[in-house]
Amino acid sequence: MTGNGQHQRRAADVTGHGTRLRSAAWLDGDDEVALANRAALASARPGPERYVRGPVIGIANSASELNPCNQPLRELAGAVARGVREAGGIPAEFPTISLGEDLMKPSAMLYRNLLAIEIEEMIRSSPLDGIVLLANCDKTVPGAVMGAASADIPTILVTGGARAPASFRGRRIGTGTDLWRLWDERRAGALDDAAWQELERCLGSGPGACNTMGTASTMAVLCEALGLMMPGSATIPAGDPRGAAAATEAGRRAVAAVRDGTRPSQILTPAAFGNAIRVLHAIGGSTNAVIHLAALAGRVGVAFSLEEFQRLGSGVPMLADVEPSGAGLMQDFDAGGGVPALLRELSALLDPAARTVAGPTIGEIIAAAPAVKGDGEWGGAIRPLGRPLRRDGAFAVVRGSLAPDGSVIKTSAAAPELLRHRGPAVVFRGYDDMRRRAEDPDLEVTPDSVLVLAGCGPVGGPGMPEWGMIPIPARLAAAGVRDMVRVTDARMSGTSYGTVFLHVAPEAAIGGPLALVRDGDLIDVDVTAGVLNLDVPAGELARRRAAWSPPPSPHLRGWPALYRDHVMQAPEGCDLDFLTAPTAAHRRFVEPVVGRS
Ligand code: FES
Repeated sequence: MTGNGQHQRRAADVTGHGTRLRSAAWLDGDDEVALANRAALASARPGPERYVRGPVIGIANSASELNPCNQPLRELAGAVARGVREAGGIPAEFPTISLGEDLMKPSAMLYRNLLAIEIEEMIRSSPLDGIVLLANCDKTVPGAVMGAASADIPTILVTGGARAPASFRGRRIGTGTDLWRLWDERRAGALDDAAWQELERCLGSGPGACNTMGTASTMAVLCEALGLMMPGSATIPAGDPRGAAAATEAGRRAVAAVRDGTRPSQILTPAAFGNAIRVLHAIGGSTNAVIHLAALAGRVGVAFSLEEFQRLGSGVPMLADVEPSGAGLMQDFDAGGGVPALLRELSALLDPAARTVAGPTIGEIIAAAPAVKGDGEWGGAIRPLGRPLRRDGAFAVVRGSLAPDGSVIKTSAAAPELLRHRGPAVVFRGYDDMRRRAEDPDLEVTPDSVLVLAGCGPVGGPGMPEWGMIPIPARLAAAGVRDMVRVTDARMSGTSYGTVFLHVAPEAAIGGPLALVRDGDLIDVDVTAGVLNLDVPAGELARRRAAWSPPPSPHLRGWPALYRDHVMQAPEGCDLDFLTAPTAAHRRFVEPVVGRS
């Protein structure tokens, strides 16, 4: 037997199942390449265990000082590494780009797929047997998970939790949601300069994700429901000692997942997506999650459609009493029992056989879950099954001549009286036009108008920014109007609310009907009937289409140019067209090809 063979046999012993570690292709053997690779790994990780041989677990850390939401991950990385070591593995932390929702312009969404590529390529090119993803802010969670799903090595997600609630003039402030409400009060003249400055100081309440049911919290809850996290860990608040304990447990479990060969492709099944979609309806989560679930499903070859998304929401009770659809915050949701308690309430609607990376099935997690606690008080924000906030899910999908490929509305955060409406359009073309004209006291608009924002989709943004909660025009806001029908090809923050028909596809920038709407055109919406129509004669629309040409694009280079050329529309998850649908060849791509570099 050659020296290389001896090393391969030693690697097989490490797994305990006779399976060769992926990292063996880099690290096992007696030649100069294996020696150099082992020396490199040891040099990067000074410490007593640097010559230990075991599964190498990457710790992909997206902490950054440009992203307050991900700052808790700094501390948690050490806790994960401790767990990896305790289980006999080798932790190898590396940084990733950090997609901070607040500071990244025009939108962190523009870079979600770049993070996914980064994770996938780091796995492909490195001696990793498994990976722990450290992510928290809106786009870092789906981006990291998408990349790991494509690479398909054992994967577990650790999130950093929600930030402590701010307090403003005796009132607890939920991130995002309350700021949007207070901004309307400011525009209506009810909040003076001193109050506005005081609010700014209050909002700097420390690191952690938005503490409302925004996109970050939604995605964390969904990832636990999908089976990608330790049970009960998704909603632990930032700074809570339970977070470090869960991170250590995740590190241990990552090593075990390598040993028992648990891969994302075994977790991310149609059953898991069905469970996650029902949970999304039950929490009244972010509309962005519809896009992220579609993208993740595309990565693993699971069929996903808006029709199926709506069908699965039918009969689902909305149980999370958390802003913006409810009244509490994520801390209250966690105190109510977190995801396990929610799953227990929903058990009759879920597939118990779905597997999780933690080991137990969803059914086994439900069997061990606590009952919901503290319903109706700050101590808990999960309603029992018999007392939901609403029935029949939290979202609706509409289609019609204005949205042939669909549009999504979060009905749980909309005004019920506006879900059936007919009104004349007031059209904004792009963000600057919207911000300028919405403040114009002479804008011709009434509370019955339908506000349209076009040109802000995946291609038009580019990156489909969260501009969809079109501001109520200043004159109407000052008169006390707080909601109007709005239609857009943009997204909106998960912390936002209002009667907003989002993600209209196809988008205006590629010639969707939204590009043809003009001021005064009549628009019909009817959520119950599932329609979103533009009431303009076909002949007139044909004339407008003949005169239409794609809007001039800003000069783009680098990543934005690549993104614009390959991004798909919202119903397909806004992934890049060359990153979906795994094939046998794709699966082989993570098999290492190692030699001299
Ligand atoms: Fe990062 Fe909300 S802005 S979680």
